[in-house]
Amino acid sequence: CGIIGYCGHRPAVPLVLEGLKRLEYRGYDSAGLAFLQLNKLEVIRSEGKLCNLEEKVAKTANTFAPISIGHTRWATHGLPVERNSHPHKSNNDALAIVHNGIIENFQEIKDELIQKGYVFHSDTDTEVLVNLVADELDSVLQINFGKKYVEIQQDMDEAFQKNPELYLPFLEQAFCSALQKAHGAYAVVVLSPLIPQHILAARLSAPLLLGIGIGEYFVASDVPAFLPYTRDVVFLDDREYVVLSAGAYAVKNIFTAEKLEKTVHHIPWDLQGAAKDGYKHFMLKEIMEQPKVLRDCLVGRLQDDRVCLPELDGLPVPGSIRIIACGTSYNAGLWSQYYLEQFAEIPVIVEIASEFRYRKPILKADELIVVISQSGETADTLGALRLCKEKGYPVVGICNVLGSSVAREASACLYTQAGPEISVASTKAMLSQMVLLLLLALYYGQRKNADCSHAKKLRAGILNELKALPEILEGALPVMRDKAKKFAYQYAYAKSFFYLGRGTAYSLALEGALKLKELSYIHAEGYATGEIKHGPIALIDPDFPTFALAFDDDNFNKVCSGILEIKSRQGNVIALLQEGTELENNDLWYIPQTKLPEFLALPAMQLFSYEMADYLGKDVDQPRNLAKSVTVE
Ligand code: G6P
Repeated sequence: CGIIGYCGHRPAVPLVLEGLKRLEYRGYDSAGLAFLQLNKLEVIRSEGKLCNLEEKVAKTANTFAPISIGHTRWATHGLPVERNSHPHKSNNDALAIVHNGIIENFQEIKDELIQKGYVFHSDTDTEVLVNLVADELDSVLQINFGKKYVEIQQDMDEAFQKNPELYLPFLEQAFCSALQKAHGAYAVVVLSPLIPQHILAARLSAPLLLGIGIGEYFVASDVPAFLPYTRDVVFLDDREYVVLSAGAYAVKNIFTAEKLEKTVHHIPWDLQGAAKDGYKHFMLKEIMEQPKVLRDCLVGRLQDDRVCLPELDGLPVPGSIRIIACGTSYNAGLWSQYYLEQFAEIPVIVEIASEFRYRKPILKADELIVVISQSGETADTLGALRLCKEKGYPVVGICNVLGSSVAREASACLYTQAGPEISVASTKAMLSQMVLLLLLALYYGQRKNADCSHAKKLRAGILNELKALPEILEGALPVMRDKAKKFAYQYAYAKSFFYLGRGTAYSLALEGALKLKELSYIHAEGYATGEIKHGPIALIDPDFPTFALAFDDDNFNKVCSGILEIKSRQGNVIALLQEGTELENNDLWYIPQTKLPEFLALPAMQLFSYEMADYLGKDVDQPRNLAKSVTVE
C-alpha cells in the first residue's frame, strides 16, 4: 500500500491525490483520502483505480484544505471494496487513519472493543486500530478533562480559540498507547479535528519517511510521492512517530515520547526518473534505459582491472554465501550463484526469503548473508535479514531504494543505481542487481586470489565484456523490440509457455516465465532445460510453445538437443541464440555476441512480455492483484 500525509501552504487534497498517483505502483485495489472541513472529518473513498477517486473528489471535495491524508491499497484484510478502503474513521468521528501493514492481534483487540460497544463496518485491521486509538483517547480525555471526545467536541470552538494546540499532547499520548498494544507492522498517519493543524504518523516494520519542505511537510511511503516539492528526506525508524504541522516537525519515540535528533538526507533522484518521459508505459521506459543503468552501476566500481566495493572491505572474505530474496530479486540471486562459484570460488546457497524464515536453518560460522531487494522493504526479505543479524551474522544488502529498511539495517549496503523503478514488474532493477552480483563475485575472487595471474586474466576478460555491454545493449534494443513485437503477435494464442535455460540461463528462464505471467496472465513455467524430459515434456503439443535460451557456451549442444526433443513432439519454439551459432528452427531470435549474454537476453525477454501484454490489452504497469513492494508477510 502507499500512504501520504501533507501539512502546508498548498491546497492539500489535489496534492495528496497527485502524490497517490506516484505511489499507485504500491497498490491499486482501492484508494481514499481524508481532510477537515469546518473542523469535521471528511473521507472520500473509492474502489478500483485512482481515477475513480479523482472523479469523486472533483464532484465533492473542498480542495482548499491545508491538511490531508491519503491511501492507495493492496488488499490484505477484506475484499478491495469501498467499505474496506482507507482512510478509516473511528466510531466517534474523532480520527481518520491510513495504514500500511498488518495488525496481527487485531481480532483480540476487536473483540475487546466490540464488548465496549464499538461497531465495525469493514473487515480491516485498520478500522480496529483507529477505534483503539479513539478508545485510548477517550480514556486520556476522561482523566484530564472529565469528558469524552463527543462531549469535548461540543465546546471545541471555544477551546480552540484559546489554544488550538490544546489537545495535541493528549492525542499523542493516546496514539502511542494504542500503538504499544498493536502487534505487527504498520506505517500509519492520523488526522483528527482535535488537532486541526497537525497530523501524527508512526512506523514499525513498514516504510515511512518525511519530506522536508519550506513551510510544508510530507509523510509518505516512498520518495516519489513528494518529489516535485522536496528532495530532503528524514527516514523514520521503527517505533518512532512524528508530529507534523505546516511549520515544524518533531520525531519522537513511541514508548518514551523522547524527542529524537534525525538526519536530513538529500535524495539525488529527479522528477524525470519518476515520469514516463514520452514512453507509453513506465515498463517500456525502464527496459529502454537499461544501457544507462549498466553504465551507472559501474561508475566508481572499477579501477584499472580492479573491482572496488569499499563497503565490504571491512568484512572478512566469507567461507560461504547465502543469498536471500523474493520474486525477481531471487532470480537475480540464483543467477549469481554460477558466477560467485566460478570467480570467487565460494559455495553459494540461494533461498526464497519466505521459506528461509520459517525453517530452522543451520548457518555456518563463516557465512555471509546477502539479501537482495529493489525496494528494500519486502517484509519477508527484511524478516530474514533481521533473523540473521540476531544470530550475529553480517548481512550485505543489495538495494535500489536509498535509505530503505534493508539499506539501513544491513551491515553494509551496495546500492544498485537503477533509479526509481515505477512499473510493478521489475526490469532494470534486476539488471542492476546482476551487475552488482557479478562485481561481488569478481571482488571476492580478487581478494582471494590477488596474485594468481590466471585468475587476474580471467577477471580482466570479464570486466572488458562488462564494460562493452552498455553500447552493445543500446544498439540491440530497437532491433529486439521489433523482434519481441513480431513474436508476441505470433504467439498471442498461447495459454501456456515453457521457458527453458541451462547454466546461467536457467534463472533467466525463471525470470522470463515470471514476467510473462505477471504481465499477460499467460501461464508460464521456467525450467532447467535438462529437467524437461523428466515429466514436463508430457505437456508439449502444438499449442504449448517454448521460449528457449541457447547461449553460446559449454552447454550449447546439450541445450540444442533439448530443443530438438521438444520440436520432435510438435512443440513450437522461440530459440534465443547468439550471433555466430546455428540451430534448425523456424523462430530464431539472435542477440549479439558477448561472454555475458544474460545482460541481453534479459531485456529481450522483458520486451517479449511487455509486447505480449500490450497486445493483449493488459494493464502493463499495474498488473492485477500485484503490488510493487510487498510489505506484508
Ligand atoms: C513484489 C514485486 C516483484 C519483486 C518482489 C521483490 O512481488 O511485484 O516485482 O521482485 O516484490 O521485491 P524487492 O523490492 O524485495 O526486490
